[in-house]
Amino acid sequence: MKILGIESSCDETAAAVVEDGRIVLSNVIATSLEEHKLYGGVVPEIASRRHAEAISGVVKEALEQANCTMADIDTIAVTYAPGLIGALLVGVNFAKGLALATNTPLVPVHHIRGHIASNYISSDIEPPFLCLIVSGGHSHIVAVNSYTDFEIIGRTRDDAAGEALDKAGRTMGLEYPGGVSIDRLSKQGDENAFKFPKPKVNGSPYDFSFSGLKTAVINTVHNAEQKGEQINIADLAASFQKSVVDCLITNLEKVAVEKSFDKIVIAGGVSANSKLRAEAQKLCKKNKWDLYLPELKYCGDNAAMIASQGYYEFLQGVSADESLNAYATMPIDKSNKTN
Ligand code: KG4
Ligand code: ZN
Repeated sequence: MKILGIESSCDETAAAVVEDGRIVLSNVIATSLEEHKLYGGVVPEIASRRHAEAISGVVKEALEQANCTMADIDTIAVTYAPGLIGALLVGVNFAKGLALATNTPLVPVHHIRGHIASNYISSDIEPPFLCLIVSGGHSHIVAVNSYTDFEIIGRTRDDAAGEALDKAGRTMGLEYPGGVSIDRLSKQGDENAFKFPKPKVNGSPYDFSFSGLKTAVINTVHNAEQKGEQINIADLAASFQKSVVDCLITNLEKVAVEKSFDKIVIAGGVSANSKLRAEAQKLCKKNKWDLYLPELKYCGDNAAMIASQGYYEFLQGVSADESLNAYATMPIDKSNKTN
């Protein structure tokens, strides 16, 4: 079964053809990132306009690279939530028009569910498993009970991990996205040079908080500026990255031990982080757990992951008609509730 995936939730316009949820026949991505770098973050209006310009060409190319026409496509899967609303609407409306014109079924896909599915195209893993999802907008620990049944066990109380990295990177004067710059620069820094307090979260033992850490970095930079002192930014980047990764790994271990998971999955843009990947490997080796990480090319936003998740949603009977809307927010466990 061939699924055409369409993704436009942030600054990547993407289309892909995936067979049976696992075999990627094409994966095309156009990004407006370079333009957003000028502003230090994604400008929603610019992102929407670039999606509108790019989407037809990107879909056409994805079909061509997969040696397909729309006659070969069984279902269209489109990201409908969460994300920038204007950006999402471009993909959703394009998908609805294409579905109507070609009489093809349409499946709405939750973006974060898609990130989890990036592991289905990178390995042979099947649910149930425990997943740490870390992106620009989300930091969650989720029990993936089946392909379409998700249970949130831990979540951030404030900033997402990627958001904290991006904001800290900006304060350090690094290029957007800060997460990528911090990862790169940290390789030349001493991660023990700066000590940041471990964030305390009241209530759930599995929740995260990153805003205090982010503020600590901002204060460190501002204090140094006021005193006219030079800071070694590579040391600061490495120390901050270590603190963020420590929080993620500590809670991941706590949940996996207490809930008896031995299959661990990481997903989302921050899953590309070299420190997180290395620490996750150490953690899983120590506990003799199986670890699954997406291939680097599937860590960031792409449409192959949307087509993959769309396949499993379709098998569960999920579908949409021409009334499908886009939503800026949507909990992962509430999307397309079929059980
Ligand atoms: O999943 P994603 O592409 O978009 C969202 O759904 O949010 O994630 C983007 C986030 C950004 O915050 C970016 O800084 C972060 O992923 N990111 C990284 C790395 N690559 C991307 N963070 C740390 N290290 C990286 N190598
Ligand atoms: Zn994403």
